[in-house]
Amino acid sequence: MSLSQPHGGKLINRWNPDFPYSTITESVELDEISISDLDLIGTGAYSPLSGFLTEADYHSVLTNMRLTTGEPWTIPITLPTTEENAARITVGSFVKLVKDGEVYGVIEVSDIFTPDKEKEAQLVYQTTEQEHPGVKKLFERPDVYLGGIITLIKHRPLDEFSDYRFEPRETREKFQALGWKTVVGFQTRNPVHRAHEYIQKSALEIVDGLFLNPLVGETKSDDIPADVRLKSYEVLLENYYAKDRVFLGVFTAAMRYAGPREAVFHAMVRKNFGCTHFIVGRDHAGVGNYYGTYDSQKIFSNFTAEELGIQLLFFEHSFYCNQCASMATPKTCPHDASDHVILSGTKVREMLRNGEQPPATFSRPEVINVLIAGLQREKIEN
Ligand code: ADX
Repeated sequence: MSLSQPHGGKLINRWNPDFPYSTITESVELDEISISDLDLIGTGAYSPLSGFLTEADYHSVLTNMRLTTGEPWTIPITLPTTEENAARITVGSFVKLVKDGEVYGVIEVSDIFTPDKEKEAQLVYQTTEQEHPGVKKLFERPDVYLGGIITLIKHRPLDEFSDYRFEPRETREKFQALGWKTVVGFQTRNPVHRAHEYIQKSALEIVDGLFLNPLVGETKSDDIPADVRLKSYEVLLENYYAKDRVFLGVFTAAMRYAGPREAVFHAMVRKNFGCTHFIVGRDHAGVGNYYGTYDSQKIFSNFTAEELGIQLLFFEHSFYCNQCASMATPKTCPHDASDHVILSGTKVREMLRNGEQPPATFSRPEVINVLIAGLQREKIEN
């Protein structure tokens, strides 16, 4: 066995810092989502995408969960702009992709189209309720989409994460240098609590290495900030993980909170980074009660193993059991729910804000200390 083949067969590379753009007049202002998507398309993390979705691919992704070429693809990667701006742009032209006055790329516009956002919300998020953070974002973004191949000219600056920022080409080289033939990818938008550690280490028992790949792109405001989380990962790896078995690198995408569809997207992207396995636990990429606990696992049955090209490792809801005196899941523990240490993210944040320490059976004390320091900083800054 060797590292995974990229999705679609080859790693896309749309990086060209010398691309001549000075004569291009029209531009699109990127938001947090599109600037991260631009970078991820350009570096091949979203292979086989070489640009923002065309109208045909967009509809195909919404209704078939596949690109028009047939590869599984579940999240529409779109470039929204205002109607006013779109009216100045013509099909076939090049348009600069700009943020705060800097040019990060160009798009060769092949499609200009107006999406039906109600339909997009229903199909991608399974709801049109604006309380859903992904749906809210969808409706806040401008109303016309541009499709077409991009060129990435400049990487977005993400200085606080620079030590942990790797392109798929680099992670593949790294895994090879470490001698890993099998690598399990782990997505997270939270600090690593004991349940995460348990499923990561359970997976590590059957593969060579763990790619801890926390998402540091845009998240909803009550999620723990990425820089604080990164410190918690550092302290955890320092104290509780075998050094030559874990590689930490950030995933710069925005969180969509699209549950099952996002789980497939997360798996395909980790395949591009070289992972041979990917962990999907309880309510992966979920929010509130929008998705069933294991919907993010069930969705994979829509695709063949060959189409997916990455082996999924599904885990049940895990927790510390006071009777077992160990981590467990409903598969391994016969005891009553009252013996299980289960705390929601909201509850943990509330405890931390009130100066209460969540139990060590829920989270390692080193992690809790980092989180408390992070929350104190938040208080001082606000
Ligand atoms: S996510 O939105 O990035 O999926 P989170 O960081 O909470 O959120 O989860 C990361 C991964 O760990 C996901 O695959 C999720 O399903 C899994 N997971 C989180 N908590 C548990 C748990 N208690 N038991 C089993 N799996 C879990």
